[in-house]
Amino acid sequence: MWEHEQLVVRTGKRSGMTTMVALHSTEAGPAVGGCRMKAYERITDAVTDVLRLSKAMTLKCRDAGIPHGGAKSVIVVDREVTPELRRAVLLDHADLINEFGGAYRAGPDVGTGPDDMLVLRERTPHAYCLPEEHGGTGSSSGPTARGVLAALKASAQHVFGTSDLAGKKVVISGFGSVGQLIAQGLEGAEVIVSDVDESKRSDAFGWVPPDEAYRTKADVLVPAAVGGVLSPEVVKDLDVRLIVGPANNQLTDDGVADLLAERGIVWVPDHVASAGGVIYTLAREDDGADHETALARVDVIEATVRRLLARQ
Ligand SMILES: NC(=O)c1ccc[n+]([C@@H]2O[C@H](COP(=O)([O-])OP(=O)(O)OC[C@H]3O[C@@H](n4cnc5c(N)ncnc54)[C@H](O)[C@@H]3O)[C@@H](O)[C@H]2O)c1
Repeated sequence: MWEHEQLVVRTGKRSGMTTMVALHSTEAGPAVGGCRMKAYERITDAVTDVLRLSKAMTLKCRDAGIPHGGAKSVIVVDREVTPELRRAVLLDHADLINEFGGAYRAGPDVGTGPDDMLVLRERTPHAYCLPEEHGGTGSSSGPTARGVLAALKASAQHVFGTSDLAGKKVVISGFGSVGQLIAQGLEGAEVIVSDVDESKRSDAFGWVPPDEAYRTKADVLVPAAVGGVLSPEVVKDLDVRLIVGPANNQLTDDGVADLLAERGIVWVPDHVASAGGVIYTLAREDDGADHETALARVDVIEATVRRLLARQ
């Protein structure tokens, strides 16, 4: 059923590329979300993605106690993106964001970063996470990883009886900016990483090919790449006790949560575990909190996860 407030799909007049914004809810306050730039096989896949991601943002804000609703942008990559084309499509997208009059405020997501937010700012004030030298808070990967580590602590206590993961085997699928920071934060654990990009292989950690990451026997699995990775077929082969990671929309559908529960695998919903970035950014950029105060708000994810798991 349709549960969003708005979906706008637009062909940019400068770039000729398709960009879209899904506004899921502004009930709790102006909607926030990231701006994803990515290639899709079909335009309907992009629409599905933007609708699901925007709803996840509403849940993320709700469970983090942030007075905002959820939205998301997608810029559909359909050709080689030269620097000129990138700038053109970002300006097109900024015009679209601006039409929401502040009901949607965008930050970076997969495929975009603080420099892209600076381009958006040329056409709209409603862009977060500008580079630090331009007065923004920059990349939110650090606070996101910190939040995932907080969620790992609380859930490890629930599953293993200790919040310390030293000696535990942890598989991280997706060794990008957040995955790398999580790996570095897991002191004493046996960390195995996996990525479609072989060049990310590191001597500091073990390695498994991407198609084996979800079949490897381990204590903890950390999905840190893309969404839609936990399907009924994948869940059958899992050999872990705990799943906690930042990747948005990890389940192919909500029913997969029941399959995980039936197999006795504890899964921390990604909208709870990955909220560190949005919590930190809003604390700094909206509330004027300093770095330490904003990080302390991120650390509350540990208590949130403890409370959620205690309800089971
Ligand atoms: N960066 C943040 O602040 C933030 C906040 C909330 C959620 N997330 C989510 O966390 C995830 C990781 O974010 P990031 O910023 O580290 O992204 P990133 O692009 O830096 O890293 C993603 C990594 O996953 C790899 N990858 C892609 N497809 C893969 C596959 N099928 N199997 C294995 N590896 C694959 C890529 O090569 C890349 O190294 C994303 O799903 C993102 O939406 C990030």
